[in-house]
Amino acid sequence: MPIKFDKENKIFTLTTKNTRYVFGIMDDRYLVHHFYGKKTAKYALYKPYCVSFSPYRGELGNTKSPDIFPQEYSFFGSGDFRAAALKLRGENGCCATDFTYKSHRISSVPKSGGAGAEIAGIPCGRPDENTRSLSVILTDETTMCELHLIYNVFYEEDVITRGIVLYNYGKAPVKIEKCMSASLDLPSCDYDMVTLWGGHYDERNYQRAPLHHGTQSVCSRRGASSPQYNPFFALCDKKATEDKGEVYGFNFIWSGSFLDEVEVDQTECTRVQIGLGEENFGYLLEPTKKGKPAKKDSSPFCSPHAVLTYSDRGFGKMTRNLHDFTRNHILPERAVSEPHPVVLNTWEACYFNIDEEKLVNFAGESAKVGFDMLVMDDGWFGARSGDRAGLGDWTPNKQKFKNGLGSFIEKVKSKGIRFGIWIEPEMVNPDSDLYRAHPDWALSVPGRQPLLSREQLVLDMANPEVIAYLKDSFKKTFGGLPIDYFKWDANRHICDAFSHALPPERQDEVHFRYMLGVYDLLRWFTVEFPSAQIETCSGGGGRYDLGMMAFGFQIWASDNTWPYSRTWMQRSALLAYPAATMSCHVSNPGDDLRALDFRYKVAVGGMLGYELNVLRMSEEIKKEMARQVKEYKTFEHLVRLGDYRNLASPFLCPYSAYYYTDKENKEFLLSVIEKEGIPAGRTKPLKIREAKPGKTYVDMLSGSRYSGKELKDGLVLPLTGEKFTAALMHLAEE
Ligand code: DGJ
Repeated sequence: MPIKFDKENKIFTLTTKNTRYVFGIMDDRYLVHHFYGKKTAKYALYKPYCVSFSPYRGELGNTKSPDIFPQEYSFFGSGDFRAAALKLRGENGCCATDFTYKSHRISSVPKSGGAGAEIAGIPCGRPDENTRSLSVILTDETTMCELHLIYNVFYEEDVITRGIVLYNYGKAPVKIEKCMSASLDLPSCDYDMVTLWGGHYDERNYQRAPLHHGTQSVCSRRGASSPQYNPFFALCDKKATEDKGEVYGFNFIWSGSFLDEVEVDQTECTRVQIGLGEENFGYLLEPTKKGKPAKKDSSPFCSPHAVLTYSDRGFGKMTRNLHDFTRNHILPERAVSEPHPVVLNTWEACYFNIDEEKLVNFAGESAKVGFDMLVMDDGWFGARSGDRAGLGDWTPNKQKFKNGLGSFIEKVKSKGIRFGIWIEPEMVNPDSDLYRAHPDWALSVPGRQPLLSREQLVLDMANPEVIAYLKDSFKKTFGGLPIDYFKWDANRHICDAFSHALPPERQDEVHFRYMLGVYDLLRWFTVEFPSAQIETCSGGGGRYDLGMMAFGFQIWASDNTWPYSRTWMQRSALLAYPAATMSCHVSNPGDDLRALDFRYKVAVGGMLGYELNVLRMSEEIKKEMARQVKEYKTFEHLVRLGDYRNLASPFLCPYSAYYYTDKENKEFLLSVIEKEGIPAGRTKPLKIREAKPGKTYVDMLSGSRYSGKELKDGLVLPLTGEKFTAALMHLAEE
């Protein structure tokens, strides 16, 4: 059983294939964390041992201060001075709460979602028949709130997701001032912390730094998970490598502002928290009556879910746990089971300069090359001839598409190619009919001119009227059209976060409710256009997160398509997210076949596409692209579904090397990318550990044969000595 409760000792044990998570009830009151780690490891239950100088309950004695024992979840103001997971302000203005254990429930998880998460419309790990859920219920006698700590156990993937549901059974509203979905106290501080930081055009740089006393955090205050700090992070022992050492991986199923907070405390322990935080979050929770249907605004508050995994086999295993979890429980099922289309996207080829005639020609030429789909990017709607106008007016531009969208799409499709279209639903240009009609639908502070970013403002997705308008508008424009793909962009972050639809006491909810509105609209798209796939994007990879992945087939990884930079970005994205989520495009190689080769070999690390003016490419380049697309399709399944094994990280080596392998270990796709020219260099032995010694493997791309033993011992490949070259091998068991 993945979840057990030992009644006598009052201990909960959550078990996955390779991990164990243990906590218990102390003195019928506190939840104490005992252990999270390897399933077969010996562990000791926490026993109060030291006298504390911190506050404690008189009847329990001074060894039981909430400030010193490892907590399962922590509360502000009642004796634990470390980072709190929950801060509530009650009717009397006081923020000290003291939630204590009341009861618990173990159940399977309804197919519709995790316990509670579906109520709030927040995506969460999709359960399967093995998923089990534990709700631990705590109450606070002063606010009369009931807190449910939710644990969903994904056995096969070694993942536990955690979230909270809060009910206000008191008489007055309470204000949630800080909310973390998970809190975990680890018994050591001897860890390094790995985070992914960056910016627009420079997403997901890798940072590994030792923990230090005090609080260290990454967060987004931008209303998007952001390219600045990805919600994923890891803690690992100091010597952890790709294959060895202990690594804890954490993530958050959420696309908005967040806080990942790690505190090393006075007992040399580490508190890890993942959640909505406090700076850009607040929520007024109205009272509700037990057993009665919730009235408007009095339904419980449900947090997004945090993701926890543990590996005793280095980063590689952590990565594969997170990849499997994302494929099996987050991505839409079709995004895993169906090959992703190889698209030709018009952005880098045309920018805003598009029209019917040009794109029908694009479609014809693209079909000849063998691309599966033409994606018409920005520039097709309203008065859109640059980024200054048109956002919000989702009707086709009459000059560019004289006969409307329907007849254009028909012409595209008659060339034998599928069709995708770009949208940016959350935004509005001040120069648009929508803004002129509804200036108060943009987030803006009354009495002050809102700040522009890329010439645009952010629509108030917390306002149901805005969502209803967008649904109606997209239905009118796209209803009945055979659109196969939407590219959903979001090109700025939130400031001036004031919603004209919310009362003053709810203005702290803007970031949270904004994202609920985005998810609502995304969900509506999946229902309204069930056969269409969605690619999400946020000025490149600015919302590269599990929340977006729950709706989209894949995510545009960055506006930077320079393959050298992509080599790093892809490596660090793959630390936490499977290749199936990563849109990788080959951009204009000019007439240079060698550049085309390099761009292609980097892009095949994810979901391949092209972003170039196919009408201007030479016959030679088109012929080569046609060959590439054909070749890619012979191993696309390995990229989309395979296990990822990193052999040489570009952050540490002058080259990058990795391979994907199918679950039966019969096929391998090996990639070596030289990012620096090392004269007469050679790779270290590139060991394909899963190769079977008795078997022979054929490289389907060159015809060369290798014994399984050779592959297992490691191929030492010559490097060309020239930067920006790459080699691919598709090895298949004979
Ligand atoms: C930013 C995206 O990342 C690009 O690919 C493109 O879609 C532009 N927006 C269009 O405005």
